[in-house]
Amino acid sequence: MKAALEVTFTPAEFEALKGRDLSRTTCVVFDVLRATSTMAMALSNGAEAIIPAASIAEALRLRERQPAILLAGERDGVRIPASLTGSIDFDLGNSPREFTRDKVRGKTIAMTTTNGTRALRACAAARRVLIGSFLNLRATAGFLANEGPCPLLLVCGGTLEEAAYEDVLGAGALSDLLRPPSSDTRVADSALMARRLFAAESADLAAALGRSRNGGRLLGLEGLREDVAFCAQRDLVNLAAGMDREGRITVL
Ligand code: MLT
Repeated sequence: MKAALEVTFTPAEFEALKGRDLSRTTCVVFDVLRATSTMAMALSNGAEAIIPAASIAEALRLRERQPAILLAGERDGVRIPASLTGSIDFDLGNSPREFTRDKVRGKTIAMTTTNGTRALRACAAARRVLIGSFLNLRATAGFLANEGPCPLLLVCGGTLEEAAYEDVLGAGALSDLLRPPSSDTRVADSALMARRLFAAESADLAAALGRSRNGGRLLGLEGLREDVAFCAQRDLVNLAAGMDREGRITVL
């Protein structure tokens, strides 16, 4: 029997996802620090859609085709500068606190980040792809519960090529909320591991996120250190969001 609830931990697994039949599977992608947290905030503040771009060049091509589009994303944690695009500075970085209503309401945003947008693109063939974060955790769990039982794959975005502590915590928190009512739903060992990690750290998520590799880096960056505690907040927004066949992420 295929696992009904499974977690992938590392970016090395993105490639394998492309070879897997995901046509009946719902994927929830976690990049807690910070891509999926930022997407949740952007949509909650009225952004129309977010298009995850695989590269800076792809984001620039989207802007060429649709000049009203906002460009967002990071490399090495900070907003993409003209020295990397060859022409313009990106409009926004990848801080969830930047995506305020006055900046994003009604806008479509092309976004490229180191891991998060890569993880989302790797799930493109899934039956459904949702964005997961602590900020929209309960709403995401509620959406999944309404959809009814189906194979669920929680995909951790990771940091560079490694597993990321904060993403496994996010996957564990969702697994915890989705605790199956009956024993016939199989929970893979990966989901059990994530759940146990979350149980051990849930009393102080901000401190746990700060212990991660990316959390430590953000804590050391002037102007970005508050992102760590921000992304540790549970259920700040009440929305589930998903990526459609055209690769646009919108509120569901
Ligand atoms: C990523 O997608 O790799 C992250 O969101 C990195 C970051 O913290 O900006």
